[in-house]
Amino acid sequence: MPSLLIRNIKTLVQAETSPRSVARGSDMAVLPVVHDAFLLLENDRIAAFGTMEKCPERADKTLDAAGRMVFPSWCDSHTHIVFAATREEEFTDRIRGMSYEEIARRGGGILNSANRLQQMPEEELYESAWQRLREVIGFGTGAIEIKSGYGLTVESELKMLRVIQKMKSVSPIPIKATFLGAHAIPADYKHRRKEYVDLVVQQMMPKVAEAGLADYCDVFCDRGFFTVEETERILQAGWMYGLKPKIHANELDYSGGVQVGIANHAISVDHLEYTGDAEIAALQKGHTLPTLLPSCAFFLGIPYAPARQMIDAGLPVVLATDYNPGSSPSGRMSFVVSLACIKMKMLPEEAINAATLNGARAMELEADYGTIALGKKANLFITKPVGSLAQLPYSFGNDPVDTVILNGKVWDH
Ligand code: NIG
Ligand code: FE
Repeated sequence: MPSLLIRNIKTLVQAETSPRSVARGSDMAVLPVVHDAFLLLENDRIAAFGTMEKCPERADKTLDAAGRMVFPSWCDSHTHIVFAATREEEFTDRIRGMSYEEIARRGGGILNSANRLQQMPEEELYESAWQRLREVIGFGTGAIEIKSGYGLTVESELKMLRVIQKMKSVSPIPIKATFLGAHAIPADYKHRRKEYVDLVVQQMMPKVAEAGLADYCDVFCDRGFFTVEETERILQAGWMYGLKPKIHANELDYSGGVQVGIANHAISVDHLEYTGDAEIAALQKGHTLPTLLPSCAFFLGIPYAPARQMIDAGLPVVLATDYNPGSSPSGRMSFVVSLACIKMKMLPEEAINAATLNGARAMELEADYGTIALGKKANLFITKPVGSLAQLPYSFGNDPVDTVILNGKVWDH
């Protein structure tokens, strides 16, 4: 049985002796650590850990992590890494004063990305998405969710989901696929919205489900995109096809998206920049996770979600990158963790729980990922030399990752 021993770890972070399924409220500030630690991996799993006094004598391979920390890989539960082209023209339009919504109304934004993606051959789309997956693995991501939603036709939505499926079959990290046919209303359906929702529900969804191409179903429920009624219809159809909801909500307004997600038993409602008392009360009553995407708020210059109020209300906050060409062209989880601390007043411990354990939970992967616990998958990273835990989010923009370990082996990039 091939084994890998990491010795002299300054701090082994998120090392659990009694595994949790999620961290909520005041427990989010509790981050279990072992100082001066060892970690033993056997095959692709975590076999033992503890203080250096109890360190095993030998293993097939040994790494020394003196002065460094070891983290479980980030779990990025919200991305759109399958896309055809970047959108820096819209970025400069926004610098000149246009808003994200104005750009979308003139046919840019998601519709711009859909035009480009519809024209790109599947193989090319796969190659570029695969490079992005490798990029984020290098940033320390060890489990990821990827959405469709830049197809917006039956054919192109299926093309995107096949790309994700192909990545799943060869990826060293687990991938969850989300069907987001209801990302925007295509221009030619502008005056016949119902027909587009019919297309999503009656044409796309059965084909997606039949081919087993998605785990989840998503809708962009927001001002200028899909209404609460349309969202409800799509989510209920999703349940009939075994696609659990994980939705975009309240990015642009108090849209009712949070409430409709909870009412339809969504795994998570994501964005939540517009969250007030009513949304927090609804989240407290349900089991739906609030997923926050601060790099989107950073990039678009919109308000940050009220993470502090959510945690103080006892909620289990999740953090993810939203990596996409329009609102968050970065897949670096360590920057998201920094933003969560700097802009949303989350403690480093809270942000790390949100980006590991709670991220895993938002993909239903917490039994195998998200913490260092016996028997869990050995997806982790060793940091560069670092003085303290808080120094990681404090040094915003820096790359803390030195060595990535996936499935018990050093990842060779
Ligand atoms: O999560 N808000 C909706 N969807 C993406 C952005 C999509 C785009 O602009 O391309 C998001 O921000
Ligand atoms: Fe998104």
